[in-house]
Amino acid sequence: MTPASDATHLRKTLKDGSFSLVDVELNETYHNWAGAFTEAIGHYAQPALARLETSTSPLEHLRLWDVCFGLGYNSFAFIQAVLASPLLGAFKSLEIQAVEIDGSLAPLWQEVLAQAHFTNLTQAFHIEQVKTTFGYVLSFQAKEATSPLPQITMHIHIADALAILPQWVTEAKPSVDIIFHDAFSPSKVPHLWSSDVFTLYASVLDSNHGGILTYSLARSVKTAVEASGLTWRKLPPLGWKKGAMLIFHR
Ligand SMILES: C[S@@+](CC[C@H](N)C(=O)[O-])C[C@H]1O[C@@H](n2cnc3c(N)ncnc32)[C@H](O)[C@@H]1O
Repeated sequence: MTPASDATHLRKTLKDGSFSLVDVELNETYHNWAGAFTEAIGHYAQPALARLETSTSPLEHLRLWDVCFGLGYNSFAFIQAVLASPLLGAFKSLEIQAVEIDGSLAPLWQEVLAQAHFTNLTQAFHIEQVKTTFGYVLSFQAKEATSPLPQITMHIHIADALAILPQWVTEAKPSVDIIFHDAFSPSKVPHLWSSDVFTLYASVLDSNHGGILTYSLARSVKTAVEASGLTWRKLPPLGWKKGAMLIFHR
């Protein structure tokens, strides 16, 4: 038994060797069988970077929201992908605001990072996890003082996304560049996929290069996205998923 194989989570090793969880009560997997790392890279990190590369304005200070942070794969994969991206050196800072309702996952984040999949990331940074009043701060200190790595701050709020998103919207200055939306499936938690949620995102998403990445291609999600005034594009299939969605301003 591992720390997270308990009454509510079942632990699994997926096809790429990375570990994931199943939520026992909802009977929902956290990731695609192709692998937690593979999904995070293929459906979140790489399409986010590709979207940012289309920017016609300088990207000095990047802001990313990770909604339903879970084991943290999507944000960790994004930071690692930046290291090998043409955008490395293009921006000075990366601010990640994450929200996750389940505080029992916190001890697993360092375990996720200790996997061989994240060697490039852990070779580049000292990563420290500190408990705070709202949740956790992960600090990333570059090991090489002269490297072109951005300043990274990661705040992980232990809270209900629906409670915290309106608050983040009022604080979002001037806009958010990338949003990862990785809730359990729309059939199980429809309230996390409503047009209200996408309308909140639309109000802060950068209108030039901003992108929302999510795995669901459900008709109900497309309808909610369109009702918020945003538009979407299908991303290629991966593992058991027929594709994923990149959502942006028209
Ligand atoms: C599909 S998993 C996310 C996988 C995650 N991105 C990762 O890399 O591990 C969905 C997550 O949403 C969290 N969650 C469920 N309801 C939530 C809510 N109302 N607000 C915030 N997080 C929630 C669950 O605890 C779970 O960790």
